[in-house]
Amino acid sequence: MRTQVAIIGGGPSGLLLSQLLKTRGISSVVLERRTRDYVLGRIRAGVLEEGIVSLMREAGVSERLDREGIIHNGVSISYGSDEIHIDITRLTGATVTVYGQTELTRDLYDAAEADPGRVLTEATDVQPHDIETDRPYITFTHDGAEHRLDCDYIAGCDGFHGVSRQQIPASKRREFEKTYPFGWMGILSETAPVSHEVHYANSDQGFALCSMRNQHLSRYYVQCPLTDKVEQWSDARFWDEFKRRIPERLADTLITGPSIEKSIAPLRSFVSEPMRWGRLFLCGDAAHIVPPTGAKGLNTAASDVHYLYHALVAFYGDGNPDALEAYSDKALARVWKAERFSWWMTSLLHRFPDQTDFDLRVQQAEVAFLRENEAAQKVLAENYVGLPY
Ligand code: APR
Ligand code: PHB
Repeated sequence: MRTQVAIIGGGPSGLLLSQLLKTRGISSVVLERRTRDYVLGRIRAGVLEEGIVSLMREAGVSERLDREGIIHNGVSISYGSDEIHIDITRLTGATVTVYGQTELTRDLYDAAEADPGRVLTEATDVQPHDIETDRPYITFTHDGAEHRLDCDYIAGCDGFHGVSRQQIPASKRREFEKTYPFGWMGILSETAPVSHEVHYANSDQGFALCSMRNQHLSRYYVQCPLTDKVEQWSDARFWDEFKRRIPERLADTLITGPSIEKSIAPLRSFVSEPMRWGRLFLCGDAAHIVPPTGAKGLNTAASDVHYLYHALVAFYGDGNPDALEAYSDKALARVWKAERFSWWMTSLLHRFPDQTDFDLRVQQAEVAFLRENEAAQKVLAENYVGLPY
């Protein structure tokens, strides 16, 4: 088998890159380890920057997103009963769109059905070879047979646990990591969202987040100890905790109901440099992770895809490899700004087990400053809607 760009991983990064390349007549094959249903069973965040919405349009897969995505012009933050509304559209001229990552991924899988063989699921033992030469290839197992896929370039879009990052020699790779002493317990419930905008709450009981997927489907989270297990969180316990953490105004109107999904995720910041080695390019979670406060995970994956897509288009257009060579630096410059923002939002909005009274006062002062200072709100808004590509 031969293709121009071999893509490891059929999450949103790999599928979007493949779909975009197709629009420019550049061939690709996506190798995904799991089944489509498994990938679509993962519930992830749901706030899209304008950048990824534009990429979905350019890829010709935005019909449902344009119809069902909910445009938001603001976001709110509370500290106890003190609420701050950030009017992101007035401050930046931009909006964010609420549309689940799962739905976006489904749209990309559906579009791929038009080209049999472009996305291979249940491709196992995926192993890149000769990435430091100009003839890289990948070996893998599919339908019980071993295959070899020759290509010009490899895109490593295989998430945090993938094989791609490991191909960069350990002596040439630098990893930066920060773990947080809590996780997020999240539920999906078929109830009307309590807030028409995304609401981040810091309270004496810890962090809570009110989000949504549509007018009838709510997505809510609470900060929990890392040692907690989902089984310890009955629906009743979740609603009880959640209500105590959001402002009374919201708690009073909250509609509760049975959860249809429940999961706990740890919070982590992680970056691996460089994002390119020879003919291998890393995109998305394969190279970096952000804590979800700020909703930057998918959006940062999308900016990588944007840079790599344009670099490949430039190369296949006129043979100029400059943009491919600049990929790692360009992607990392934006990644680190998203890392900073996500760390800042996480620090501002959570209660840390080792937080001193001094730390708490500083956190309160920062929230007060944000409430009173339009420049501070603008900084938050500009980051929230997404920095330019
Ligand atoms: N071979 C083939 N596929 C693999 C391998 C492998 N060795 N290892 C992992 N994969 C697949 C996974 O099964 C997964 O479907 O790669 C895919 C990676 O998808 P994601 O983890 O969703 O990563 P990415 O596409 O970069 O999306 C980033 O997802 O995790 C969220 O917060 C993150 O929203 C962000 C987005
Ligand atoms: C979500 O809707 O799941 C969501 C929203 C905002 C975040 C994280 C997750 O910051």
